[in-house]
Amino acid sequence: MSQEIFDKAEEKLKEIAAYPVANADELEQFRIAFLGTKNTIRPLFGEIRNVDNDRKKEYGQLVNQLKQSAEAKFEELNGQLTSEASADIDVPDLTKPVNADPIGTRHPLAVVQNQIIEIFARLGFTISEGPQIEDDWHNFTALNFPPDHPARDMQDTFFLTEDMALRTHTSSVQIRLMETSKPPIRSIMPGRVFRNETISARAHCQFHQVEGLYVDTNVSLADLKQTLYYFAREMFGEDTKVRFRPSYFPFTEISAEMDISCFVCKQEGCNICKYTGWVEILGCGMVDPNVLENCKIDSEKYTGFAFGMGVERITMLKYRVNDLRLFFENDVRFLRQFTSAK
Ligand code: PHE
Repeated sequence: MSQEIFDKAEEKLKEIAAYPVANADELEQFRIAFLGTKNTIRPLFGEIRNVDNDRKKEYGQLVNQLKQSAEAKFEELNGQLTSEASADIDVPDLTKPVNADPIGTRHPLAVVQNQIIEIFARLGFTISEGPQIEDDWHNFTALNFPPDHPARDMQDTFFLTEDMALRTHTSSVQIRLMETSKPPIRSIMPGRVFRNETISARAHCQFHQVEGLYVDTNVSLADLKQTLYYFAREMFGEDTKVRFRPSYFPFTEISAEMDISCFVCKQEGCNICKYTGWVEILGCGMVDPNVLENCKIDSEKYTGFAFGMGVERITMLKYRVNDLRLFFENDVRFLRQFTSAK
């Protein structure tokens, strides 16, 4: 009697060993047959009742072995199938060229502003900044605009209160700088300025300036001319010529406007220079002694020069942009054209 029971268990052991498992479905069949709640090993445990007493221990070990071998086979095959499955997953080819995300571009005004800053930095000019909302003192009075003087009308101002306005130029930063530091002062003031003008292709209510200030002992008109001549050549090319025309600003005495030779037509005559051969690019002059005194700088001891240019104007000239409004619309078809500019 016992031998028959033993034989059945031995057979089961062989069955487990030989059970074919090639895929996940067959593995599931195997699990149900040997490890599931209604598995075919369990009845063999019950048979122990019918085994002769002296062989019960041996039989117990045999059916335990059965269970263990089913478990072991399941674990092994399960491991194999999962690693085969993961080997089948579509691993991306890391050597393929990438579809690069489009790179943004610097705004043309930032490009040109950086070029201006860089040229003056080479001459030792530092950068100064100030508030866009400015008081009357820094924007006008300290700059020698007397109260009610018609010169205040030269720039149409956005007033916020009687005393506060959006700055109309970054000359206000020159005042702040002279009030807080001692000569020698050599600095440029880039920044956004505001004027109450009707928006058109040639005018906007906001634009950008880079102004400059140099105050020291013995600063002369020759220094002003040479500095700006250097700037013009660096910005527009080696063969650029400059000329100065007398002008008027309340804060400079003498005052001038600087033209450069037309770099488009080389003075042959074109519509950029309106057939004059010259294009105006900045205002400048020797700092009025009153302005130095307003900032508690001894005008007997020190002299200085100042200049101011519009970044939009220079950008329009350099890149032949014919409508000022393009700078503020952020149309990517416009901005993308400056991809290569640093
Ligand atoms: N502040 C003047 C303007 O905005 C420019 C300027 C600056 C002129 C310094 C002379 C000297 O028009």
